[in-house]
Amino acid sequence: MTNWAALRDRLREVAQQPILDLFADESRAQTFSISLESSETGEIFFDYSKTNIDQSTRDALLELAREAGVEDRREAMFSGAAINETEGRAVLHTALRNLDAEVLVDGSDVMPDVRATLARMESFARDLRDGRIRGSSGRITDVVNIGIGGSDLGPAMAVQALSPYCDGPACHFVSNVDGAQIQQVLDGLNPDTTLVIVASKTFTTIETMTNAQTAKAWMARSVADPARQFVALSTALDKTAAFGIDPARVFGFADWVGGRYSMWGPIGLSLMIAIGPENFRAFLAGAAQMDQHFRSAPLGENMPAMLALVGIWHRQVCGYPARAVLPYDQRLARLPAYLQQLEMESNGKRVSMDGADLEVPSGPIVFGEPGTNGQHAFYQLIHQGTDIVPCEFLLAGKGHEPALAHQHRLLAANCLAQAEALMRGRSLEEARALMAETGLEGDELERQARHRVFPGNRPSTMLIYPKLTPAVLGAIIALYEHRVFVEGVVLGINSFDQWGVELGKVLAGEILPMLEGQAPAAARDGSTAGLVDKLRDFGI
Ligand code: F6P
Repeated sequence: MTNWAALRDRLREVAQQPILDLFADESRAQTFSISLESSETGEIFFDYSKTNIDQSTRDALLELAREAGVEDRREAMFSGAAINETEGRAVLHTALRNLDAEVLVDGSDVMPDVRATLARMESFARDLRDGRIRGSSGRITDVVNIGIGGSDLGPAMAVQALSPYCDGPACHFVSNVDGAQIQQVLDGLNPDTTLVIVASKTFTTIETMTNAQTAKAWMARSVADPARQFVALSTALDKTAAFGIDPARVFGFADWVGGRYSMWGPIGLSLMIAIGPENFRAFLAGAAQMDQHFRSAPLGENMPAMLALVGIWHRQVCGYPARAVLPYDQRLARLPAYLQQLEMESNGKRVSMDGADLEVPSGPIVFGEPGTNGQHAFYQLIHQGTDIVPCEFLLAGKGHEPALAHQHRLLAANCLAQAEALMRGRSLEEARALMAETGLEGDELERQARHRVFPGNRPSTMLIYPKLTPAVLGAIIALYEHRVFVEGVVLGINSFDQWGVELGKVLAGEILPMLEGQAPAAARDGSTAGLVDKLRDFGI
């Protein structure tokens, strides 16, 4: 029997077993959770006891992971092997934060370059924050990061997450090729005191290059030498030079840093400018702690591995199509968007590394919003819809607003209540009793009661951390990175390429001349040709 078949057997056995009943085992909350303590982060606690994973299921999941070679693959990643096999590259974002290590790629140690670039970034960030690097008419007050996908989502998410630590120039983010975004950002800024960071691994991404040209033209209207107020973050040093950016203002990195894994190095420059180099180091140190844990802990006690196996259980075995990420932490508002790229661009694949069709579904749809906002929007479906959506809650022990601790307790109560409600549900009997209390009876009581039933037995996990500090954020992001890695290894896919984004880019290049009237639309399918014509009628 394959391991997948063994797991499907487990599913059949536990299908009727309410999660709540599993707590008859009084030690369940302890044995189905993992605690990780470090001086950088304090205790981070992952509770997966509110799932229907029992001991036998966990054993089967761990067997699946071992058989898939997670342990060997993990070591191969950390030690610089070319595990991104479709692009022939190593995968070494971990090298950007494990700064004392020696990491060999093709026989040479990459760490001296990593440390040198980090030192250059730190010196640049300090000079900028202290006013030694200036704009044409004074101190830099604003930084605009122009990038998209992995060159935007990480730093944008983290700058918001760490806003209590932001004491440098204000950071703004422009990603969309929709002119509405850059127009709105630049309208509020003074070009004389603005620094533009062009963040693009390839320096060819059409959205980023278009926005970068727009920003350059905007700056050139009042700054004599606009290139002096531009910085580039890229692997393509020939292209940054062609754009006119001084090599001294270019922070390069190697192709073994994947776009969606890149915020730990130069792509994190805006974050470093915002929070300062010391806090950025703490962010790296928190991630390094998670790396060390992931690399050394046995799989059953390994937080990223168990988060991944819970994900595999829900998606590939139970067949639930989506998962919700629900940070009860307003500053993590962009975490779901960040994880959408990390998880869906990494594991949204239908063939395995060798090109064969997957025998199980690919990674899930990821979505979410901060609690409590989501409660007043899509939680209805999560509680009473016909699909089961496993929920991943995140919650800090403390907020950053000591004077509003009572609001934090209310926030936390809501978070725990949602997880409990999902598991416990409300039976028809309980709903009938509630309706009887309101004075209803007969058919109307029955009808109203049925609307108030919660099926319950819906799984969730909870990640609790002391406070959203730079180190804790680093650890949380590294946790999710490694979760994606383990899920990818178990599925046998390459989590580090993204061929699925290519086709649309090619077709956009063909359609643009049609919208500009330079090429006929008639050769396209009837729908596309008709829409091009309609937009031209609208005067696009
Ligand atoms: O189109 C997808 C993608 O390649 C992402 O993987 C990447 O993060 C993003 O585009 C931006 O790419 P670049 O940093 O090269 O501009």
